[in-house]
Amino acid sequence: MKFVLIGCPGAGKGTQAKKLSKHYDIAHISTGDLLRDQIARKTELGVEISKIMEEGGLVSDEIVARMLKGRIQEADCKNGYILDGYPRNVPQAQGLEDIVGKLDKVICIDVEDSKIIDRMTGRRGCPKCGSMYHVRYNPPKIEGVCDNCGEKLIQRKDDNEETVKNRLDVYHKTTAPVIDFYKEKGLLATIVGSGEIEDIFSDIVKALEE
Ligand code: AP5
Repeated sequence: MKFVLIGCPGAGKGTQAKKLSKHYDIAHISTGDLLRDQIARKTELGVEISKIMEEGGLVSDEIVARMLKGRIQEADCKNGYILDGYPRNVPQAQGLEDIVGKLDKVICIDVEDSKIIDRMTGRRGCPKCGSMYHVRYNPPKIEGVCDNCGEKLIQRKDDNEETVKNRLDVYHKTTAPVIDFYKEKGLLATIVGSGEIEDIFSDIVKALEE
């Protein structure tokens, strides 16, 4: 099984991808996580892309496609995978099936912009195990500490209000046309992403199994 999760920053792609990855025993591939890993390890590429990501712009298609090609060769991808954050523009969408073969579905998680600033500025993540929280909507049991591994939670550098506004702008101008691209191919299912996390998860599973 191979499918794409698309949606604006903070739509809940990562939250749902983690649950879907467990449910279907397939890999969760987040291009954002792959790029942040380069920055954290201070590789040459990490140094090159850190400013772009901090400002909420897009990294070059060539770099991201190269990373994706490498990632899908890893052992955990043999049953399939969820693409979270890729494709992000029409050229990436046009080239995707040459990289991964046929897609089963494209799920668009639809959330209105007015909810996003609140979701993003309240997001906290665990740098060790990747668990994701929100200070109000999905808080950890002990404030600032990961329930799963006890690590101190951190806030992403691009989760400040100004950068989130820029990321939303980039999404509407550059990523939203990808939705029409997949609608025309008959692969798109749109899910309302503003309810409870569990309800959204059930709606996605239903759409995937239709
Ligand atoms: P990326 O890491 O992909 O960020 P994004 O698309 O902006 O999405 P986010 O991870 O911020 O949000 P999400 O939808 O996963 O939401 P989450 O589940 O965490 O990309 C970052 C950067 O990398 C880009 O800006 C770009 O520079 C670069 N990049 C990545 N891919 C690229 C590509 N293909 N090409 C070029 N550049 C690329 O949820 C958010 C918060 O809301 C959390 O706190 C969560 O707990 C909470 N929440 C989730 N669901 C709900 C709910 N139903 N109700 C209430 N709260 C909820």
